[in-house]
Amino acid sequence: MSNLKLEVERTKNSRLQDFDFSNIPFGRNFSDHILVADYKNGEWISNKIVPFQLLNLSPATTSFHYAQSIFEGIKAHRNIHEGIVVFRPEENFKRMNNSATRLAMPQIPKEIFMDGMMELIKLDEDWVPKAEGTSLYIRPVMFGTEPFIGVKVPTEFKFIIMTSPVGAYYSEDVSVYVDEENARATKGMGCAKFAGNYAASLAPVEAARAKGYKDVLWLDSEHHQYVQEVGTMNIFFVKNGNTIITPELDGGLLPGITRDSILKLATHRGYQIEERLIDINELIDEIEKGEITEVFGSGTAAVITYIYRLGFRGRDYLFDTSKYTVSIGLRKELVDIQKGKEEDIFNWVTPIHPH
Ligand SMILES: Cc1ncc(COP(=O)(O)O)c(C=O)c1O
Repeated sequence: MSNLKLEVERTKNSRLQDFDFSNIPFGRNFSDHILVADYKNGEWISNKIVPFQLLNLSPATTSFHYAQSIFEGIKAHRNIHEGIVVFRPEENFKRMNNSATRLAMPQIPKEIFMDGMMELIKLDEDWVPKAEGTSLYIRPVMFGTEPFIGVKVPTEFKFIIMTSPVGAYYSEDVSVYVDEENARATKGMGCAKFAGNYAASLAPVEAARAKGYKDVLWLDSEHHQYVQEVGTMNIFFVKNGNTIITPELDGGLLPGITRDSILKLATHRGYQIEERLIDINELIDEIEKGEITEVFGSGTAAVITYIYRLGFRGRDYLFDTSKYTVSIGLRKELVDIQKGKEEDIFNWVTPIHPH
């Protein structure tokens, strides 16, 4: 619990009028306001919504040196019945606090994360784009801010929420290469949305790009044998058109909220679900036998991304994404729930203006 009152300082110079909603690159434009909460010596000491602004930080800021930084990714949509809605934000709230525990950071109170986020979106609701397929991307981030050189749990942290209008995501089919050398994250770290996991992924992704692939299919860090994730998404395989297979949550992969939503929708639709270890050698056997009919990734940014080419030990395995039916159906159902075109049977959308 936090008894801190949320203070709001509105901008006097909104940038909304000058913003071109017809051409929105991902992640480069930010709405008028941000939420900034500060933690010092064991307590949250301030919680404010202020105009978007630069931060003033010491060069000794601990997180610059020791990478103590975690984040989340959430989307708000325009829903035809409920107005602006946020998709499953409570799940991101819980995951952020799980990441905080692993990284020795303070828990963020619900009043700061959830209530603050809803206030922030309400204040900047005109920044939620209106065109088909567009949304508002919400980025909470927390990092150590004590100006101190030395490896220890810092006494100061900053929690920020910024929001960014994002354009229609024309999900391009992707090619991926199985990396048998570099892992994305170790067990116990991959399940945290820890900034360092993403830094560690960059060089292997560049190497896959140099080979002509868009992204990496990650294997586990211990055996380099079991499938974990694809790029920054969870991975799924459809076997014989009726079984959906995805790696079990073993601590090495991020427990994706889209992953969970897909599993719930797929179960509801009557598909067989297997959450288990996926041995890359057995998977390649099944691909060679023609049993794997669809391969796809899931995440907040694109919902579902179809994979058409998988490279393994110098060989390419191709998939005809024009014949994908299971993943196309699941993607449509999920997007339609977000937009209000399909009944929200699981209660996943949270309106910013409840009735
Ligand atoms: C490494 C990784 N895996 C999976 C996901 C998908 O998670 P979610 O569905 O919660 O967006 C993300 C993106 O957030 C990610 O960064």
